[in-house]
Amino acid sequence: MIRKAGCAVQTLCGNKAFTLETYASSLHVSCCYSSAKAPQAQNLPHLPVPKLGDTLTKYLKSVRPHLNDEEFAVTSTLVKDFGAAGGIGQKLQSLLEKRAEQHTNWLADWWLSSAYLEYRDPVVVYSSPGLVFPFRTFQSEQDQLNYAAKTVMAALDYKALIDDNAIPVEMMGKSPLDMSQYKKIFGTCRIPGEKKDRLSFNDSKHITVLHNNHIFHVDLWGEDGKRLNEKQIAEQLKKVKDASKTPAENPVGILTSENRNAWGRAYEIMKKDSVNASSLADVERSLAVLCLDAAAGLRGAGGKDRQQNIAAAQTIHGGGSGANGGNRWFDKTIQFIVGADGVTGLTYEHSPAEGQPIAVMTDFIIDYIDKNKSSDQAASSSPLPPVALKFNVNDDVKASINTAKDNLDRLVADLELNCFTFDKYGKSFIKSQKMSPDSYLQMAMQYAFYRLHKTPGAHYESAATRMFAGGRTETIRSCSVESVEFARAMLGPAPPKEKVVAMQRAVNAHKNYTVQALQGLGVDRHLLGLKLVAIENGIDLPKLYLDAGYVKSAHMRLSTSQVACRCDGFMCYGPLVADGYATCYNPRERDVNFATSAFNSHPATSCQSYRAALEDSLKDMHDVLLQATPSKL
Ligand code: COA
Repeated sequence: MIRKAGCAVQTLCGNKAFTLETYASSLHVSCCYSSAKAPQAQNLPHLPVPKLGDTLTKYLKSVRPHLNDEEFAVTSTLVKDFGAAGGIGQKLQSLLEKRAEQHTNWLADWWLSSAYLEYRDPVVVYSSPGLVFPFRTFQSEQDQLNYAAKTVMAALDYKALIDDNAIPVEMMGKSPLDMSQYKKIFGTCRIPGEKKDRLSFNDSKHITVLHNNHIFHVDLWGEDGKRLNEKQIAEQLKKVKDASKTPAENPVGILTSENRNAWGRAYEIMKKDSVNASSLADVERSLAVLCLDAAAGLRGAGGKDRQQNIAAAQTIHGGGSGANGGNRWFDKTIQFIVGADGVTGLTYEHSPAEGQPIAVMTDFIIDYIDKNKSSDQAASSSPLPPVALKFNVNDDVKASINTAKDNLDRLVADLELNCFTFDKYGKSFIKSQKMSPDSYLQMAMQYAFYRLHKTPGAHYESAATRMFAGGRTETIRSCSVESVEFARAMLGPAPPKEKVVAMQRAVNAHKNYTVQALQGLGVDRHLLGLKLVAIENGIDLPKLYLDAGYVKSAHMRLSTSQVACRCDGFMCYGPLVADGYATCYNPRERDVNFATSAFNSHPATSCQSYRAALEDSLKDMHDVLLQATPSKL
């Protein structure tokens, strides 16, 4: 089982030969706003199995910053033995290639299971990201309800586009990206199991609405089969609020924040009661969840970053059992959050989709709201009233709810968040320096970590592998020999020109790895595949996987992901390891939204210090670039 937070020189992808050069100049994701529809079957190339020798060469290079000379010598020998003719690596490689011949995507099922469904820590903090929408000012309850209704309308319009295959196909350079993740946004629910969860895919005509920890079924189509309009949805939500003026005695939703085994056990107990079984099925089938939250202290909170931290907390964990933590159903892929004092956003359960499709949907919703769009469909003349879902809570389940409350509160207290907008510059400046903005920002994080901890930080960045059928992500190992040399150069007395040369080398090394990762030619998924194929075939785990090189280079103290949206929002999530930081960022032309987090319980990390180091690093990089540029006067 692996932990997911929280994203070739020449190879064959399906029948098509791709080269580094083909993609190096045009790697960014863009939406193709032609009328082209995402076809049902996109006929994309299959995820390649990298050549063993290529992966091992890359791997050895990537472990170097984390090892002393003796350790590196041991790792080098292990790598040599692993890859030798007749060695275990070759055997595993041929088993993996055989699997790839039989699967469209040799990794997809394994990844879904090992990164998500078999992962037992809570989805809250450890897996599900929050996405904070731009702030709103609600003067009244009606404002909150109108905004929530508008959000639902926008989501329904977006779902209609998905159903019609009308979402513009995203492109990476000239390559279309796999659009199948969009189909899993609405109606999906993760169902807890005692050892492994499963995903349930549904289509329906209702949403689940939570208020004061009560759970309601709200139909969005009337008895006449017509969709409700915005005013009618707001009226339904008002009925929900009026029917739940005091907090629910048993906040059943908080169970979804639990360790998955514990929730799986409670779920089985609950399901034995037919009333519970029917309510659970109702939530499972709904299109999405809408959380009408209590105020979270946004007003009078102070500056924008204070507000960003409050909103991030609400979207990641709901602020604990005393706040909105019980007003959630974390198993649902999408939970829209509309707080009484203007915190708006969503929480998404990560297993069916990556952050980027969710961010694209967010831009659609924000655009819809800001332009005050509405549907031209005839409204229903017979809306159905909301139905409060009933749960019979026996003593066992009550005890589980109390444990879940305690566990969530501990987790909430442990998560340090520091979110901010870096507004000194954004992508435009970096592009003007002829560098990749993403690689530059990644190197700023490397530099920040090194200046703070005086040691290289193993560093995970998600790269989309959606050029391939069913593709999800590959890891970019952002910590490199070059990134460490760059950080050292920046901290030393070298003249600006030398620092800039070190920066360019580090940025280029990162970009080079990115190009390969986007083509499915990184180190991590391939090594995972070889490991899983060994396990499936009853083969002892090769020593390579127990070695310091593997362990240290995969202990990702920086877990990072670019999730880009046009609006002034951002995604946020928890760190991957106890002594690590998370950094999710939304780079825009003139600023960058950063969401960083760490665990308070670990003495080695401080999010506040990391944020300061990151801001200082970004400023230093800007300054040396300007100092190294000859004056035009
Ligand atoms: N000089 C000038 N401009 C450059 C440049 C250079 N050397 N290199 C890149 N640029 C430009 C690009 O053309 C692009 O321009 P645009 O803003 O007009 O589109 C822009 O800078 C951004 O490119 P870059 O920063 O290099 O990369 P990217 O935005 O494509 O991001 C990844 C790279 C890896 C983040 C992206 O490919 C990806 O995989 N995203 C998905 C990650 C993910 O899955 N996250 C969710 C996990 S839950």
